Amino acid sequence: MSRPLPITGEQVQTALDRAVGQVRLNLPKYTKRCQNHSSVNGIYPACGNTQWTCGFWPGEVWLAYERTRDDAFRQTGKAMVESFHRRIVKKIRVAHHDMGFLYTPACVAAYRLTGDEQAREAAILAADQLISRFQPKGEFIQAWGRMGARMNYRFIIDCLLNLPLLYWAGRETGDGKYEDIARRHTATCMANSFRPDGSTFHTFYMNKDGTPGYGRTCQGYKDDSFWARGQAWGVYGSILSYRDTGDPAALDTFKRALAFYLTRLPEDLVPCWDMLFQPDSGEPRDSSSAAIVACGLLEAARILPREESGEYEKLAREMVGSLTECYAVPEPKVGAGLILHGTYSKKSPYNTCFPEGVDECTSWGDFFYLEALTRLAGDWDPYW
Ligand code: GLY
Repeated sequence: MSRPLPITGEQVQTALDRAVGQVRLNLPKYTKRCQNHSSVNGIYPACGNTQWTCGFWPGEVWLAYERTRDDAFRQTGKAMVESFHRRIVKKIRVAHHDMGFLYTPACVAAYRLTGDEQAREAAILAADQLISRFQPKGEFIQAWGRMGARMNYRFIIDCLLNLPLLYWAGRETGDGKYEDIARRHTATCMANSFRPDGSTFHTFYMNKDGTPGYGRTCQGYKDDSFWARGQAWGVYGSILSYRDTGDPAALDTFKRALAFYLTRLPEDLVPCWDMLFQPDSGEPRDSSSAAIVACGLLEAARILPREESGEYEKLAREMVGSLTECYAVPEPKVGAGLILHGTYSKKSPYNTCFPEGVDECTSWGDFFYLEALTRLAGDWDPYW
């Protein structure tokens, strides 16, 4: 395959309407229940509101609502807000850091678009939960597990996408504690998660005295390899950090992480799940990484001066063009997703993850694909 062509304005409209049509088809299946993190043989099982990924489906619903203003999307979005409010009030499976992944697309979006006070309250409670995981010794938000446990005294690159919830909560409440913790965590992450060549560690351990420890993978192939989605979270997360802090170091990190990502991309601009591999290895792709990076590029294009934004937008159009041309789900079907060939967690001899969702649709891959199309279709006020 040759390098993909940038998606045109007309193709964006068609792809967006098609994707929104698939979301509409899925409304009855995922209104009382949530959508599983990844599909099984191409179809998402329904699940309870217990996973870290449950926010992406309502995020798609709100993007579809923005496109159509159709009340059917609003009603499902509202049912999800009620479920997410219950989850945070009752503290159901919230003892981890993924409050931003959950509550930004499900509740911040709902509040922004409809003024729903229940959504606002749920999102602020989620921000409180997130800052409760801050470790002053080392200055980081602990990702997983019992607070302070030696085996979990670490943060992960993904957390950069949880931080916009804190900046939002700070603006909403006027309380500086949210931004203070977000900035401290960001400084620790920028100093340790990004290697000198711009590649990233998935997880990073701190010592109990607060000094930096060492990087380890969970979902990448091995500790010193290049887990594609971690790199994608690093790209999108660092440009969001630059937007939220104005710190030139975050912009520099974005450029370095992006440069590394680009050096390892195959010709169709969709990486293998770990960028140690190229497609001739036979290893599966992770299309969700391409969708996440495209959103990061489009955010950079939105906030940076014109001289730089053109190049980022062109690259994003090529990535979204490739996803639309070669990865989009071909036939609408109840329970199907938007883009194929995502990889959630692939087991290797060296990593510690539970194997699931290999070469399937992923709920965040679908969400970020729809976000990228929405960004390309016109001015969009990011949920993040
Ligand atoms: N945040 C976990 C993942 O990207 O799979």
